[in-house]
Amino acid sequence: MERLEALQAFKETFGFDAEDLFTAAGRINVIGEHVDYCGGKVFPAALNLRCNVYGKKTGGNVVRMAFRGIDGIVEIETDKLDSYRGLKIGNYQAGVAYFLREKGVDIVGCDLYYDCTVPFGSGLSSSAAIEVATAVTFCEYAGVAYDKVQLALLSQKAENQYAGVNCGIMDQFASAMGKKDHAVLLDCSTLEYEYVPLKLGDYCLVVANCNKPHNLVESKYNVRRQEVETALKTIQTALPVTCLAEVSPKQFNEVKYLLSGVVAKRAEHVVMECDRVHKAVEALKAGDLVELGRLLNESHYSLRDLYEVTGKELDTLSALARKETGCLGSRMIGAGFGGCTISIVKKTSVDNFIRHVGKAYQDAIGYKASFYETSIEDGVTVEKL
Ligand code: GLA
Repeated sequence: MERLEALQAFKETFGFDAEDLFTAAGRINVIGEHVDYCGGKVFPAALNLRCNVYGKKTGGNVVRMAFRGIDGIVEIETDKLDSYRGLKIGNYQAGVAYFLREKGVDIVGCDLYYDCTVPFGSGLSSSAAIEVATAVTFCEYAGVAYDKVQLALLSQKAENQYAGVNCGIMDQFASAMGKKDHAVLLDCSTLEYEYVPLKLGDYCLVVANCNKPHNLVESKYNVRRQEVETALKTIQTALPVTCLAEVSPKQFNEVKYLLSGVVAKRAEHVVMECDRVHKAVEALKAGDLVELGRLLNESHYSLRDLYEVTGKELDTLSALARKETGCLGSRMIGAGFGGCTISIVKKTSVDNFIRHVGKAYQDAIGYKASFYETSIEDGVTVEKL
């Protein structure tokens, strides 16, 4: 939605003009999937698809929220923040407010209009973008200084403990800390990070949504977390490690006889994916995009065969992408079970790529995929209007 339309909608809803715009980003992840909660390194980047929060501080103890495309206003009272866990819309915001207040931040009444351009349920982290943008809004209106890494951690806590999704730190970190034209190499066990230029020369990343209807992603995600925790406990009987990401592929080969069934497969994915992240960052730095593409494909196969989080739609979409001339590699991103793929595609082939893959996907699956025009942008932004 253009800014003017959002400003108009704000005025129509609340009766006066918005004064501020706070934004946080949706994200892609180049590689390092389902390893953040195992202490691994991830390689996400912040997108131009964002949660935009238009706001005006009103004082008092009521936060009023309106949302693009949804009728009505959701109100949360700042002295009842524990009571909004069941809200379908507004629970992320209430969760963020709840944990900020626990930290001593005074949540000041305000009117907010949410224009979220990150498609919901797409694996591009609309929830993280909402949480982080909301956290910045409340801190700004409380007049407190904040550190963006701390806000990412607090947002993750809200998602874990308020919304009930046991996610890692990758999405909120990328949403807050992303940098234009860079991916963030983030060590999820120490939160040390490095910005690496996402220079793809004649190539670009194409983001495609398989549009599989969203269901039970959260509960399936939580099951994967339990499986890798089981694997870690068993491996710890043989190796002095604190997380699965510390296990090298060689060590894994020596201890894998201790594991069986799905637990063994899940752990193997984590160990090998961590190894691929290192190789992928080296390949990118060396400008070896063919190798980067190969690693993206391997990541997808591992998420399909070992972690089992892809499904027919994502497998079809990425397989069709790989067949296209000018495509160096393709994989699902995010939690999986639906959502998006990224593909490295030659810039001059993008139009054909979208046409061919789009048609073949619809023929195979029966409904359309969506392709997004994306660019890599900064994480949080704050603007006086
Ligand atoms: C979701 C979670 C992240 C991460 C990815 C998988 O996006 O929110 O923390 O675990 O899945 O890599």
